[in-house]
Amino acid sequence: MEEAPHGAGAANARRSARIPGFHRMSMAERRAALAAFAGLGDDDVARLAETGALPADLTERMIENAVGAMPVPIGIATNLRIDGIDRLVPMATEESSVVAAVCNAARLNYDDGGFTTSATQSLMIAQIQLVGVSDPLGARLAILENRARIAEICNACDPVLVRHGGGFTDLDVRIIESRSGPMVISHIIIDTRDAMGANAVNTMAETLAPHIAGWTGGRVYLRILSNLADRRLARARAVWRAQALGGPDVVAGIVQASHFAEADPYRAATHNKGVMNGVGACVLATGNDTRAIEAGAHAYAARNGRYASLARFEENAAGDLVGTLEMPLAVGLVGGATRVHPVARLCVAILGVESAREMARIFCAIGLAQSFAALKALATDGIQKGHMGLHAQNLAMMAGAVGAEIDAVAGALVASGSVRMDRAEAELARLRGKGA
Ligand code: MEV
Repeated sequence: MEEAPHGAGAANARRSARIPGFHRMSMAERRAALAAFAGLGDDDVARLAETGALPADLTERMIENAVGAMPVPIGIATNLRIDGIDRLVPMATEESSVVAAVCNAARLNYDDGGFTTSATQSLMIAQIQLVGVSDPLGARLAILENRARIAEICNACDPVLVRHGGGFTDLDVRIIESRSGPMVISHIIIDTRDAMGANAVNTMAETLAPHIAGWTGGRVYLRILSNLADRRLARARAVWRAQALGGPDVVAGIVQASHFAEADPYRAATHNKGVMNGVGACVLATGNDTRAIEAGAHAYAARNGRYASLARFEENAAGDLVGTLEMPLAVGLVGGATRVHPVARLCVAILGVESAREMARIFCAIGLAQSFAALKALATDGIQKGHMGLHAQNLAMMAGAVGAEIDAVAGALVASGSVRMDRAEAELARLRGKGA
C-alpha cells in the first residue's frame, strides 16, 4: 500500500514545486520562495542564511539552487605518527566517537612507530563504451593499434597536466558480454598527479569517442571515468602490541572479528562502514568527493566476486596485532571544492601535505585506525559503552537542554545506565522543576 502524505508532506502536497526561474533567483529570493512553500519562519530563514565559513557568494556558485550551507563539526585526530611524521588530521563528521576512536587507536601504537603507508601512482581510468560492432575482436585490435594516436589525443586535452608529469599512460580494451550483446570497452589510463582528475579524464574520453567510433564503425555511448580506481591505491600498515591492547585475548578477538568480516558480506558491510567513518571524514574535511571514494572502496571490496572486508587484522609471530588496509583513494589537492572552499583549504594546510598521494596515504592510515578502534571495542566491551557519553549529550540537546543542562542531563543518563530519549526528557523536567 502507498503511504499517504502526512505532516509537512500533506501541506506541501497542496503547493506547487514548479517554481520557474528558481535557479535565476538570488539566494535570498530562493529562501523566501522556499519559506512560502515549506512554511518556514523568519528564524528558520535566518539560520539557512548563515553560511558560516563558506561565504555566501561561494555557496551560491558551488551548487545550483543554493539556499544555505550545512555545517558539520571538524574534529582533530591527534597522536598520529605516520611514516615517522607526527600529524594532526582534520575530520569532518556528524558521528560522535569517530574522532575519539582514531585518537585512541593512534595513542596505542604511537610509541611503537605508528603507521607505515605507501601508494601507487595516481592513475585514473576512463571508460569508453562501444557497441554495434559485428567484429568485437577486430574492433578491439583496431583500437589498440591506435595507441600512439590515443596518447596524443588525450595529452592534447590537458597540456597543463602533461607539464606536471601526468597524462596518458596506458590503454586497455576489454570485450564484455552484456544483455545487449558484446560491448568493446576501452580504458584509457591517465596519470592525474595531484588532481582527483574527473574533469581531465572525462574530457579525454569524450574527445576520443568519435575517433574510436571512426576506427571501428561502431557507436559510442558512455564516456566516463570509473570510480573503481584500482590503479590508485593507498596502503597502510600498523602493529599494535598485545600488551598495549590488554593481552592476547584482545588480539584474538580482533583477529576473529577480521576473519568474520572476510567471510561474511553482512559483516563486511559494517566493517567497511567503520573504515569509511575515518576515510570519509577526512575526504569531506578536505573538500574531496566522498561519493567517489565510497563507490571505489565498496567496488574494490567486491573485486574478487564477493563483497569482503577492506581492513584486515592478523597476529604476528610475537603475538602482536598487525593491521593492514589497501583501498582506492582518488583524492586531489588541486581543483574542485578542495581549492575553493576556505575550510577545505585550511584542512589541507593543517595536514601539511605536498602531494595528493601523501594525503591519500594519511587517509588510509586513518581508515585503518578507525577500523582497529571499532574492532577493539566490539571484541571487548562492545561499542555502546564508548558511545554513550556523547550519545547522552545528543539526547539531552534533543530533549531541549541548553548550556549547563546538557552535561547535567547527560551525566544523569550515563549514571543511570539508561541512555534513552524519554529519560532525557524526564531528567530535564526534573532539573528545571528543581531550579524553579
Ligand atoms: C559504527 O559507525 C561503525 C562500526 O559499526 C564499525 C564496525 O562494526 O566495525 C562500529
